[in-house]
Amino acid sequence: MDAIRVVPTGEAQGSFQKKFKRPDPCVIVIFGASGDLTRRKLIPSLFQLFVDGMLPECFRIVGFARSELAPESFRGKLKQSLVEFARVKPISEKLWDQFAEMIEYHQGEYGGLDGYRSLKDKLDAIQAKCGLGANRLFYIATPPSQYSEIISNLKDGGLIYNGAYTEWSRVIIEKPFGHDLDSARKLNAVVTGALAENQVYRIDHYLGKETVQNILVFRFANTIFEPIWNRNHIDHVQITAAENIDVSGRGSFYDEAGVVRDFFQNHLFEIMSLVAMEQPVSFQADPIRDEKVKILRSLRPMFGDDLKNNVILAQYDGYRDVEGVKPGSRTPTYAAMKVMIDNWRWQGVPFFLRAGKALSSRVTEVSIHFKRIPFCLFGHDEVCQQLSPNVLNIRIQPDEGIRLKFGCKQPGEGMAVRDVIMDFSYSEAFEASTPDAYERLLVDAMKGEQTLFSRSDAVEHAWAYITPVIKGYEEDESLTIHSYDKGTDGPDAAAKLVFASGSRWEPLG
Ligand code: BG6
Repeated sequence: MDAIRVVPTGEAQGSFQKKFKRPDPCVIVIFGASGDLTRRKLIPSLFQLFVDGMLPECFRIVGFARSELAPESFRGKLKQSLVEFARVKPISEKLWDQFAEMIEYHQGEYGGLDGYRSLKDKLDAIQAKCGLGANRLFYIATPPSQYSEIISNLKDGGLIYNGAYTEWSRVIIEKPFGHDLDSARKLNAVVTGALAENQVYRIDHYLGKETVQNILVFRFANTIFEPIWNRNHIDHVQITAAENIDVSGRGSFYDEAGVVRDFFQNHLFEIMSLVAMEQPVSFQADPIRDEKVKILRSLRPMFGDDLKNNVILAQYDGYRDVEGVKPGSRTPTYAAMKVMIDNWRWQGVPFFLRAGKALSSRVTEVSIHFKRIPFCLFGHDEVCQQLSPNVLNIRIQPDEGIRLKFGCKQPGEGMAVRDVIMDFSYSEAFEASTPDAYERLLVDAMKGEQTLFSRSDAVEHAWAYITPVIKGYEEDESLTIHSYDKGTDGPDAAAKLVFASGSRWEPLG
């Protein structure tokens, strides 16, 4: 297929062009400071923000973990993680030395109040010393089983301020937020018992990805798409999150979760909500979150045979041999689902969602498949049969960009039609490299900007839809868990799911 390039014209416009204002001075406390997320994402993101001059003028990082560790050794480990995971390498020694001066370590148990009281003393001392004020951001990056305890202890240890203070205290909670509807509700009850909703930042890092945010700009900064963004013109929507990595190294975590908990309840539903929502009344956090919740509330629940007909779960061959995976496990590593949204805009338009591990390539994208032409003007079947419907492809990663496929007359005699692609590539169009999602989300939390974080009602509505699907498969072993070979595009049964609606999946890669 031929591709036509699209390039940006003119100067960037709109509120995003406002001069960047650093967040207010604050301290970030990371619970789970010796864990993988801290090493791979949080410290590399904080370092990059520091390099880019986006951290507050006065800033401290306190790592909280159970191991006895001298602050120097802690810093040494963090430096090592930067060598491996920094977005821009090699890292500058000079900048590292300056960054390292901002890092402290606090040893403490997550249970009991001792560690929190001593943390409070430490924060008071740090904050008095460098004139930080008392703004505190707590990042909970521990295993999920510790979330409730940490949140309650933060409150009981006097580390959470209520509205009477001018300083703020905020809590970032990592995904997964609950394991099912019941546990998500219980966790929300603990959270709302300790914090006001404007102090809670539930992370879904997909919302921090530039291209996910661009879905809103694409839809609401242009007039030409909105009139056709509905059931009158759209045949179906595909949302794909394919990974080529398998689950080695995190077998026991993954076996408890599976792809539906790991990707559908959060990443895929967030993306679907942005694609499907109505226009918000303003670009503030709550109006946007209100519209997203309406989509989740409109999802048509699945009962009985719906599970068999609309959900395909599968496991890659070799999964059960991964260390930490239970023998005979039925945990899916791939899922495809046909989801229906019962509202005026989307009635009758299937949303096909799929995600999986160990697939042929790493691709996250949204494809909007438009309806076929209603009547063939050219009169020759052989011409009209070549006309495939228009497809708008929003590529979230890698090769971030937007592509529109349309039919074009091939030059020359006769009426040969050929598909061409109008291709907009982020990396070709913009010189700046794309920030990591965590960079954006960390700064937003420091600034108190909640748009890119999930609200409690959204989390619960997503679980309310997906829990019966997960439980249905867990409880009814007659429902098939299909299998697929590593490095393929997934099980054949998933292809049939889309085929039954007269289409096919967009190729991976
Ligand atoms: C996480 C999942 O939320 O997202 C992982 O738990 C997955 O299983 C990861 O690998 C993918 O993130 P990204 O940003 O690489 O697409």
